[in-house]
Amino acid sequence: MIETVKKSGNNLVNNKEINSSSNKTEKIYLRIWTTPKSLLCLCAAIALCATIALLRGQIIEVRNYYVPARSLGKVRIVALSDLHGTMLGKDQERIVSKVREAAPDIIVYLGDMVERSRAEESADSLVVLTQRLAQIAPVYHVDGNHEDDFRNDEPELSKKLNAALSDAGAVQLENETVQLKINENCIVNLSGITTHYYWEVKENKIVADLRNREGINVLLCHYPESVLWYDAFDGGGLDLALCGHTHGGLIRVPFKRGMYAPEWGWWPMYDLGEYPIYSDTDWKHYGGGEGAEYWGTMIISGGLSGEHGVPRINNPMEISVVDIGK
Ligand SMILES: [Fe+2]
Repeated sequence: MIETVKKSGNNLVNNKEINSSSNKTEKIYLRIWTTPKSLLCLCAAIALCATIALLRGQIIEVRNYYVPARSLGKVRIVALSDLHGTMLGKDQERIVSKVREAAPDIIVYLGDMVERSRAEESADSLVVLTQRLAQIAPVYHVDGNHEDDFRNDEPELSKKLNAALSDAGAVQLENETVQLKINENCIVNLSGITTHYYWEVKENKIVADLRNREGINVLLCHYPESVLWYDAFDGGGLDLALCGHTHGGLIRVPFKRGMYAPEWGWWPMYDLGEYPIYSDTDWKHYGGGEGAEYWGTMIISGGLSGEHGVPRINNPMEISVVDIGK
């Protein structure tokens, strides 16, 4: 009994010693972290991380994707999106040099290539880009919401811009499909829809028509939600949908996804990159569960600018290079 009391007395002494030593350690750490030198180091580290994150937003990254196709043949598509009238290098050289290096068969614009608040300047920068890219490969484009606003706010300038793009050799796809022969054994059916297609048409006639065609089927569409909400892949037949609009979530948190995308809000599920679409995929689930059938792939380009004054943070600009087929 006496021994037990003694032991518990010793434990009390030991506990006190442990507590006082851990308090001492905490105080030492606190002192280290609150010295002017350590605070300066902390501020310098934060400033360095912020600078790197901002600089990463200024880089143009070429992202390569591979998508299988049902038909024979293969094709390389370069997709550009959400330029918002930005001039990247003299006469868009930063974009043009990378596209030339990618040697595509087709170049596509996925909308929001102009910026409604800088109408004239952004039209000029897009015409320069198109004149140069059309020398590399045929250019096809669909409208984004900024082209829609541009048409409403600046109808004359919008008409002039479309005429200049057409003169440069670019082809606008407004709820229509063109059939392209890439080489002897490769046919590509390239469809493009406007931002208001689904609201007006109510049924997916374009994709229904694509399913009956021979060849590699590709849909261009500014809004990823148009593809998901209206089940463009349902039943198979569409190999690839190319979309933009999200700007890669604008601010990307390391090891996580983008923070914000228009229409999707905070922490968007679909914001950047490659999304295989399965029979159980919807706008709230990636799909691919047991027994699910693969229907095709949606790629969302991260775009080539920030938006509404929000810069891209830890989010490089993107030129998408997509190889489709065998
Ligand atoms: Fe957009």
